[in-house]
Amino acid sequence: MKTKTKDILRIRDLALSFDTEEGEVEALDGVAFSIKNSSVSGLIGETGCGKSVTGLTILGLLDENARIKRGEIIYKRENLLTKKEEELEREIRGKEIAMIFQDPGSSLNPVFTVENQITESIKMYRNAGAKGNKEIAIEQLERVKLPDAANLLKRYPHELSGGMKQRVMIAMMLACNPSLLIADEPTTALDVSIQAQFINVLRELQSDLGTSILYITHDLAVISEICNSVSVMYAGRIVEDLPVETLFNDPIHPYTKKLVYSVPGVKTKLEDLEEIPGSVPRLINPPAGCRFHPRCDKAKAICSQETPNPVSVEPDHCVACHLISDRGGKQ
Ligand SMILES: Nc1ncnc2c1ncn2[C@@H]1O[C@H](COP(=O)(O)OP(=O)(O)OP(=O)(O)O)[C@@H](O)[C@H]1O
Ligand code: SF4
Ligand SMILES: [Mg+2]
Repeated sequence: MKTKTKDILRIRDLALSFDTEEGEVEALDGVAFSIKNSSVSGLIGETGCGKSVTGLTILGLLDENARIKRGEIIYKRENLLTKKEEELEREIRGKEIAMIFQDPGSSLNPVFTVENQITESIKMYRNAGAKGNKEIAIEQLERVKLPDAANLLKRYPHELSGGMKQRVMIAMMLACNPSLLIADEPTTALDVSIQAQFINVLRELQSDLGTSILYITHDLAVISEICNSVSVMYAGRIVEDLPVETLFNDPIHPYTKKLVYSVPGVKTKLEDLEEIPGSVPRLINPPAGCRFHPRCDKAKAICSQETPNPVSVEPDHCVACHLISDRGGKQ
């Protein structure tokens, strides 16, 4: 599948809910954003806002109680939401789009060696025979800077550290040469020094191979190190889309501002930190209008009545807030 467009993935008006005994969880409501070819896009927001569900929807890996209500996920000109399960499995997962999950341990099978697992994923897409597959496996492990790769192939997941498991996971993903990598909080299970190494490995791979990355996190420091652009998510909606420099220098949406000014070291000293008042809303019967209005100190009457539409304020900067006039200016 080849594309001439500058976006590798475009999500449009994606709405999804989960049916539960307590009622309908309106997890995603009109989510829209794009990922440019060969770029790193961040998806940030507080816990429960819908980041992982967005990633899982792209790959069709949702729980059974999920219901897609509307929207499109255009990947290289095809709408992934219209693809059958077998098509996603055969054409997309692992081959075109790969995902790294938060807990690397749970993604590796404890009863198989690293060699078994990595060659299994190589075989699926470019079987080069036993000797060739092993060579590719070693090449992939060296690519993610794992020392003594030949020896590592004989080991089981429990013999590896968290950081090593995470790199084995990336090596497995990259063996299939995906065009898009979704990394969902990939550093949360790692200690700080390993996190920094991991980010470096990912950054190098991205610049060497041109893989596009969707980097899901709530860590703004990581965003500042690796992303080109960012989509800010609040309670199942994208509230602002902007280049990473603008996120730190000129955010517009009241929620984005609170996020940026609530993190020490990014924009603010510890003593000047602002807390975001209130708590994340439940998504069963979420607030009407702008879902942030109960926590927003700029809210006006219209905010609790009408959902703000996204407005372009610059070519790469979009904001969904009633403070922005529909002529596209800041107020
Ligand atoms: N199977 C499910 N049934 C009901 N609700 C679900 C289900 N899966 C996810 N949700 C709900 O969907 C919402 C979004 O969840 P999601 O896991 O995407 O959050 P997140 O932004 O990734 O949070 P975190 O930062 O904690 O990982 C949450 O309210 C969550 O409780
Ligand atoms: S739409 Fe209203 S409530 Fe929502 S962020 Fe903007 S000002 Fe605040
Ligand atoms: Mg998550």
